Amino acid sequence: MDNIFPSPHPLVAHKLSLLRNVKTEPKRFRELTREIAALLTYEATLDIPTINVTVTTPLADAPGLTVEDKIGLVPILRAGLGMVEGVWELIPNAEVWHIGLYRDERTLKPVEYYNKLPIEPTVSMCLVLDPMLATGGSAVATVGILKRWGVRKIKFVGIIGAPEGIKNLHTHYPEVPIHLAAIDERLNDHGYILPGLGDAGDRQFGTG
Ligand code: PRP
Ligand code: URA
Repeated sequence: MDNIFPSPHPLVAHKLSLLRNVKTEPKRFRELTREIAALLTYEATLDIPTINVTVTTPLADAPGLTVEDKIGLVPILRAGLGMVEGVWELIPNAEVWHIGLYRDERTLKPVEYYNKLPIEPTVSMCLVLDPMLATGGSAVATVGILKRWGVRKIKFVGIIGAPEGIKNLHTHYPEVPIHLAAIDERLNDHGYILPGLGDAGDRQFGTG
């Protein structure tokens, strides 16, 4: 499969090991989520289009670049929220559009409960943020919502992906690049990623 980008960066792997640890408390879990999101954003934005500009330094004019696309961040509630601050550190003027989905525990299908997108898209490129790509149902539903909204360029930025979820998202939307800190082994019978990190929402917010 092309368009799948597990991070090659040792710092990402180091932080992910801390994130996975069952002993990592919510405060540290949130910090690590934010830091990993920033590092993955650096990788996910390597190819974004730029425009040539001239900037005046105190001494002379210098050639420079400015990012062309107006970027929207789309965290999938709840767990995607923890990635926003990290991305904002690199793209401070990005708009944030929340999509609320939860997985029905029995069917594992996503149920939409929050969506306030305006009628017309306000951004030209979206980064979908969700730490966990498990069955892929939530990611597929979110990309579908954004496509219907009219966004042409979409990238998925997650932390851990299961092969099942990666295949699902890639089969539905092969044009959407998938950036991850790691690809894990498989899903368990309850749709949790193994070895994974448990429930990303509960671990961030201290619930569950
Ligand atoms: C988790 C996670 C993803 C989804 C992934 O959210 O944050 O959104 O599950 O699973 P999938 O790939 O099988 O769809 P959850 O539904 O637990 O909601 P929460 O973030 O509010 O805890
Ligand atoms: N959602 C999570 O938070 N963790 C998983 O392993 C799967 C879905």
